[in-house]
Amino acid sequence: MSLFFDSNTTVYPFPPRPKPLAAEMKQYYRHRIKTLLKQQDAVMVAHYYTDPEIQALAEETGGCVADSLEMARFGSTHPASTLLVAGVRFMGETAKILNPEKRVLMPTLAAECSLDLGCPAQAFSEFCDSHPDRIVVVYANTSAAVKARADWVVTSSIAVELIEYLDEQGEKIIWAPDRHLGSYVQKQTGADVLCWQGACIVHDEFKTQALSQMKALYPDAAVLVHPESPQAVVAMADAVGSTSQLIQAARTLPHSRLIVATDRGIFYKMQQACPDKILLEAPTAGEGATCRSCAHCPWMAMNGLEAIASGLEQGGAQHEIYVDEAQRQGALVPLNRMLDFAAKLKLRVKGNA
Ligand code: 13P
Ligand code: SF4
Repeated sequence: MSLFFDSNTTVYPFPPRPKPLAAEMKQYYRHRIKTLLKQQDAVMVAHYYTDPEIQALAEETGGCVADSLEMARFGSTHPASTLLVAGVRFMGETAKILNPEKRVLMPTLAAECSLDLGCPAQAFSEFCDSHPDRIVVVYANTSAAVKARADWVVTSSIAVELIEYLDEQGEKIIWAPDRHLGSYVQKQTGADVLCWQGACIVHDEFKTQALSQMKALYPDAAVLVHPESPQAVVAMADAVGSTSQLIQAARTLPHSRLIVATDRGIFYKMQQACPDKILLEAPTAGEGATCRSCAHCPWMAMNGLEAIASGLEQGGAQHEIYVDEAQRQGALVPLNRMLDFAAKLKLRVKGNA
């Protein structure tokens, strides 16, 4: 296991990539997973950053491929008694918090997220205690314990709208853990936001200088950026948004060439959404870059076919998500607030259309 350093010089265990499988083994596991899903009354819930073959399998088997908000919604509304969550651990935990009666399995419980790792519950709770006048808003990319300390949970697809709403209520805000998304929502809304200083190791690698060079090479291209990226990169964007919002922007923008600054797993659904457009990966190797991420989350990459089959076959401590009941109850309140807010927002957007 190698070590990874983020821009805060925090050291994270860097997981090994799954071994590539031969074509016949892929076929074997795909077949095995389909059988196990049926046998176990299970459905796959996959994130856009998982590998294309995992997204394709989720679609083929009646599961979903989505952003983190939609993954939470889908898991709660689908009738299957087992959810196989292909993503990172906070996504499995969110599914379990919302659906305690369901079995929630993951290909590996070692699929972390640098935002979650960079926001330990005890230190965060002390930070909140020292600012009692502020309402606490945490990103979904956090542990159950951190969510339980929060007033609101939010995902990137509704972050600006929620902070706008809280600002209108006269609230001052603690935002955690992502400092880039925090400063993006602050700029968009003008709200009083105090940020925890976490970062996503993937998006933190996008660099303005290399992006400018790429723009010079393709002046006709539009730039699409996830707001977990540094502010200077966000400032260069033609569209900023959550994974699903970026796919929507790819579809609707008039440009035929798009430079995309987010995990390259998104290219699978994005290319389906606009088959005639040329999609280019935004560079991660600008001046001063450590260039270790290569625009693919190392923890998302752990969701291979072999690991999914093991998750379904073995379950148990290696694969099943358990959340302490007191923490679950605590985290459920801000998560449900988020889902209610998102539902109202959808109504409002539909009403405006
Ligand atoms: P979305 O909510 O845009 O899917 O992003 C979540 C995320 O960071 C997954 O890594
Ligand atoms: Fe976390 Fe970044 Fe990986 Fe998303 S891409 S799971 S935010 S480390």
